[in-house]
Amino acid sequence: MPPLRTAGGPGLFLGRRPVCYTAVIRAIRIHENGGPEVMRWESIQLPPPAAGEVRVRHTAIAVNFSDVNVRRGGFYISDAQVFPLIPGNEAAGIVAGLGSGVTGVGAGESVAYVGTGGPFYEKTGSYAEERNVPADCLVRLPRGISERTAAAFLLKGLTAAMIVKRVFRPGPEDTVLVHAAASGVGLLLCQWSKHLGARVIGTVGSAEKARVARSHGCDHVFLYADFPEQVKKLAPGGVSAVFDGVGRDTFERSIPCVRRFGMLVNYGNASGHVPPLDLLLLAKSGSLTASRPAFSHYIADCGGLAPACVELFDLVLRGVLKVEIGRSYALSDAATAHRDLEARAFSGSAVLIP
Ligand SMILES: NC(=O)c1ccc[n+]([C@@H]2O[C@H](COP(=O)([O-])OP(=O)(O)OC[C@H]3O[C@@H](n4cnc5c(N)ncnc54)[C@H](OP(=O)(O)O)[C@@H]3O)[C@@H](O)[C@H]2O)c1
Repeated sequence: MPPLRTAGGPGLFLGRRPVCYTAVIRAIRIHENGGPEVMRWESIQLPPPAAGEVRVRHTAIAVNFSDVNVRRGGFYISDAQVFPLIPGNEAAGIVAGLGSGVTGVGAGESVAYVGTGGPFYEKTGSYAEERNVPADCLVRLPRGISERTAAAFLLKGLTAAMIVKRVFRPGPEDTVLVHAAASGVGLLLCQWSKHLGARVIGTVGSAEKARVARSHGCDHVFLYADFPEQVKKLAPGGVSAVFDGVGRDTFERSIPCVRRFGMLVNYGNASGHVPPLDLLLLAKSGSLTASRPAFSHYIADCGGLAPACVELFDLVLRGVLKVEIGRSYALSDAATAHRDLEARAFSGSAVLIP
């Protein structure tokens, strides 16, 4: 077997077990909160993986809206941020080294992770060429799921899975309204809802995004301006559920779109937080239910990342869920990725390539 290369110098295989030294790698770091310009491309020292950790050489890194929130600061974050910090929580790559005690994963294997066990917005560090990750946070990628695809859909797919499997499972009797239908999570929700037999109505920010949403299972697509009226025409009795990752700009306007005993699912805040909700409004509007789920509880409920991914991988491998990679960027150009994401410039997911 050839020697394992690490960014800081050659690694060695002792049998199948690669030994990692401290490596000099490059990463995006922020030294303060702010706009995309605070992200700097810097060299840092990465220590060898500790006991129970795996050195992952990233080959594709996810861009998530939460990365923008971490960069901006003051959003979800409970503990003060410690600078400099490396953003990002999700990536895929190759196993490049093992800390002591790690079994069940071997050098050269293709793996991915979504979070590293601690609070998602605080234990960041994936915008880097390499990272040491707790072994129990990794999932092995099956043949047919590339590292790019994994980085583009794992968190977004787990979020969609949580919604359609734990919060509201759409069926043939249902019409669902998916806001930001061409977003990373939105496209997966549209396809999954359609797969389960539901009629899907989507909202989007542009004609091009409407085209993409239609090609991913959306039966009817509208711009946001008059969506309540448009939904009323298509579903006079109201939709069974609203899947809303936009938040402030869409949540309250969605309430009259929902049928009696229907469900409002707010899973994200791309436009800002939903203002405090008067529960009596849910009673007056038809005995509605509102839910605000978080994917980390879903992973824990499934018993970990690997079991949570089983059905997701199967649906992607069977072509039920198409993964749309709207843009890819060099890792060193993460600032452009953030600018484009905040400008709502692409459909689907974006990935960073080291
Ligand atoms: N609850 C959870 O566990 C969980 C998990 C993953 C993600 N999330 C959250 O879910 C939301 C969507 O995630 P995603 O990965 O689908 O995001 P994304 O791909 O970045 O898409 C967000 C979309 O929201 C729409 N949008 C509307 N108003 C916006 C604004 N003011 N600024 C930016 N975008 C705006 C845009 O689509 P249009 O141009 O079509 O309007 C944009 O493309 C995010 O808030 C994310 O943090 C939550």
